[in-house]
Amino acid sequence: ERVTISVIKADVGGLCGHTEAPEELLDVCDYVLEEAVDEILIDYYVTRCGDDINLIMTHRLGIDNEKIHGLAWRAFEEATKVAKELKLYGAGQDLLAEAFSGNVRGMGPGCAEMEFVERPSEPVIVFCCDKTDPSVFNLPLYRIFADPFNTAGLVYDKSMINGFKFDVLDVIENKQITLKAPEESYQLLALIGNLERYCIKRVHRAKDNEIAAVVSSEKLNLIAGRYVGKDDPVAIVRAQSGMPAVGEVLEAFATPHFVPGWMRGCHWGPLMPVSEEDARPARFDGPPRIMALGFQISNGKLIGPNDLFDDVSFNRAREKALEMADMIRRMGPFQPHRLPEAMMEYTSVPEVLAELKERFVETEKVEKAEKLRERGEIE
Ligand code: 13P
Ligand code: 13P
Ligand code: MG
Ligand code: MG
Ligand code: MG
Repeated sequence: ERVTISVIKADVGGLCGHTEAPEELLDVCDYVLEEAVDEILIDYYVTRCGDDINLIMTHRLGIDNEKIHGLAWRAFEEATKVAKELKLYGAGQDLLAEAFSGNVRGMGPGCAEMEFVERPSEPVIVFCCDKTDPSVFNLPLYRIFADPFNTAGLVYDKSMINGFKFDVLDVIENKQITLKAPEESYQLLALIGNLERYCIKRVHRAKDNEIAAVVSSEKLNLIAGRYVGKDDPVAIVRAQSGMPAVGEVLEAFATPHFVPGWMRGCHWGPLMPVSEEDARPARFDGPPRIMALGFQISNGKLIGPNDLFDDVSFNRAREKALEMADMIRRMGPFQPHRLPEAMMEYTSVPEVLAELKERFVETEKVEKAEKLRERGEIE
């Protein structure tokens, strides 16, 4: 039987600043979703990564379903009411539309959904991030589904040996392309290595086109046309039995990489894999975090979660991420800690620079004036 897993997320307020969505907000979401169980939902799990609330839902209505999206929107709206009462920071931050109109995409919340026939055993990992954007998954998804030095199963498992197909979005031109690894892995890297423009949206197994991974790839700032925080994406990855093993999926996060986000969405910072408990970014509003919740889906029910990064084997990755943080923090407002100009377009920095624009003078004019002054022809 087909089952859909929908992960819909939004930041509707933090305690304090952008640190954490408090229990009060999660309780409201829990209440709203509980009411929907048996009616439209089979099961759900509410959590938060930093100041972002993640609604993990299973149902039989397929992806992009108005009832499911409407339910998530209502949960976030109700949570926003409480956030406003408590005067939490950025109350309602990611709800960019006045009212719900059919689908949360384009309205602020992030959304990753996949529909599949439940396998005899269906392990699924839900990744939730804070203080970063959807391109955060480019490198790890490549490692998981295209790099045999990460994923042994690409070499050892007959159902994976034909590789995987990657749907890549051009977030600026709103176009997409599908590339297949291993045959086109260099072309794939040529695109996804550019985090300014390209982001992986979906991965399918080449053998049978079975869905393997999906990322929430909506660009909050492009929707809002101004800086309203980072997207703080989520992703769903299926594991085992013809897909990468759970440990192969997680291995991609064992050596932290630099991702855009962190303080004011203006900085490169290391992606630190953390437990649910530790997903409360504080230092310089970060460093960017990712948590991994493992579920077994059983007749649509979410069995779990297993908090997968809550494992000592990721301690070194965390230490490494903190060393990387110390190192790059020393750069302060200088590149390469600070993001390149194009990635700063939707932050508050262009406003600061705009004021300086009229004070710029042609160097040639300055030089001419200096010469005239030297000759005493002007003051
Ligand atoms: P177990 O023997 O612990 O089930 O491990 C099987 C396996 O394939 C681990 O990658
Ligand atoms: P969020 O997107 O997590 O709200 O972060 C905003 C920010 O500016 C952090 O410094
Ligand atoms: Mg926030
Ligand atoms: Mg956030
Ligand atoms: Mg955000």
